[in-house]
Amino acid sequence: MMTEAMHPTYNYKVVRQFAVMTVVWGIVGMAVGLLIAAQLVFPALNLDLPWTSFGRLRPLHTNAVIFAFGGSALFATSYYVVQRTCQARLISDKLAAFTFWGWQLVILLAAITLPLGMTSSKEYAELEWPIDILITIVWVAYIFVFFGTLIKRKTKHIYVANWFFGAFIIAIAMLHIVNNMALPVTAFKSYSAYAGAMDASIQWWYGHNAVGFMLTAGFLGMMYYFVPKQAERPVYSYRLSIVHFWALIAIYIWAGPHHLHYTALPDWAQSIGMVMSLILLAPSWGGMINGMMTLSGAWHKLRTDPTLRFLVVSLSFYGMSTFEGPMMAIKTVNALSHYTDWTIGHVHSGALGWVAMVTIGSMYHLIPRLWGQTQMYSVTLINAHFWLATIGTVLYIAALWVNGITQGLMWRAVNSDGTLMYSFVESVVASGPGYIVRAIGGAFFLTGMFLMAYNVWRTISQAKAAENKGHSATLEASA
Ligand code: HEM
Ligand code: HEM
Repeated sequence: MMTEAMHPTYNYKVVRQFAVMTVVWGIVGMAVGLLIAAQLVFPALNLDLPWTSFGRLRPLHTNAVIFAFGGSALFATSYYVVQRTCQARLISDKLAAFTFWGWQLVILLAAITLPLGMTSSKEYAELEWPIDILITIVWVAYIFVFFGTLIKRKTKHIYVANWFFGAFIIAIAMLHIVNNMALPVTAFKSYSAYAGAMDASIQWWYGHNAVGFMLTAGFLGMMYYFVPKQAERPVYSYRLSIVHFWALIAIYIWAGPHHLHYTALPDWAQSIGMVMSLILLAPSWGGMINGMMTLSGAWHKLRTDPTLRFLVVSLSFYGMSTFEGPMMAIKTVNALSHYTDWTIGHVHSGALGWVAMVTIGSMYHLIPRLWGQTQMYSVTLINAHFWLATIGTVLYIAALWVNGITQGLMWRAVNSDGTLMYSFVESVVASGPGYIVRAIGGAFFLTGMFLMAYNVWRTISQAKAAENKGHSATLEASA
């Protein structure tokens, strides 16, 4: 068995720490998601307390799943992939450890301040200015560790996964700094440096690219390493991966205004957002096809390998949400979908179907290897997890398609005299069954995460037991 002491080439410690926290934060973030989903069915679950109200827990959910769960997964996989593909140890173990503890501190501070109601009120950038400064410091350390390792690589060429990770790291630095420019008035309150339509425009340039670079480019980096590894096949087309990379990063950055259709943003800017979103379909599908076709000649493995199934199904959801997104960016479609549950359904077909599934698949490949095992403790449990996650995602998004279209149609229905046919509360009542189904879907997904936690715990204990046995055998032999 390969322990770190016997294999000192790479820094696996920090990768292990982030991998374990991915599972932990996944459970926490999704449990809060399930709680707020349940609050929409049973309002009494708000407990009549400000700290547990929907309005405060919702940003806690989004921050926990995107930055704690997604962020830890991206740190773990980027540190692993950059070392393996560059054949070089991380440039600094101390700085890598700093990024781990620093990031956990950011998460802890978010978990305290958001329920207390401290917020800049910018979606996905709610954290107040002292935490924003801490994020910047941790991110600068991340840039140094990732790119420093890339520079000292022993290979001539930079594998495409690192291009995606690198773009994600640079773009997030830029987005975070520009969108969070603010004037602090107290230790816990600041006001944005921008105002009005300009503020909205910068916020959604940030918001959309948080999707494009954090939830897409980074996870594509994961896809480009773990799909070929798990399928034991080379990437279908290396040339396509390069075209995919440049097209994706060149186009994503322009699509933000699709979040601001029919607002005070100039009409031409809204139209650019719409057109760029439509063009974005091409590179997105280029990437999906490249991932899928990597399975050429290995499709039969799907029958026996649930880890590979997680990875492939994540690509299908990626393809589906990147088809749905451009459609929703068309102004006339957005006139129906905006403000409805359709948006929330779209978000989760990307978030559960793509981001969470590709992460889970990658973790099932990575975790046993980090502890010197060839596979997870139980493949049966991975299989059960796969079905819970897939069924959970489908229930979630199908319920919200129905809700979203129902709401959109009810809000615009008018009587012959021009008055509204339905009051708002009637559309809320009509959404009730959809909220129940969504909560059931979320419960399925979360149950799967508990199976994962148990499987990971058993895999690590198994590895530790084998290591201890190995140690005592060596001691006996030397006695
Ligand atoms: C058990 C799984 C999950 C459940 C039950 C769940 C539930 C919810 C609920 C109820 C909302 C609020 C919707 C509303 O305001 O009407 C929400 C919002 C959101 N969730 Fe989740 N969620 C889950 C997993 C995830 C994951 C894994 C991610 C990301 C990787 C995610 C990302 C988001 C985002 C970005 C929003 C805000 C959407 C928007 O503002 O349009 N969720 N979630
Ligand atoms: C070609 C790719 C995509 C395009 C063009 C696109 C387009 C859109 C559009 C038009 C909206 C609705 C805006 C509104 O009416 O307010 C939206 C919302 C959203 N999308 Fe996508 N989408 C894409 C892919 C994805 C993926 C893969 C994910 C997740 C991993 C995702 C996450 C989100 C989130 C979180 C929101 C809600 C933002 C908010 O209002 O809080 N999108 N997207």
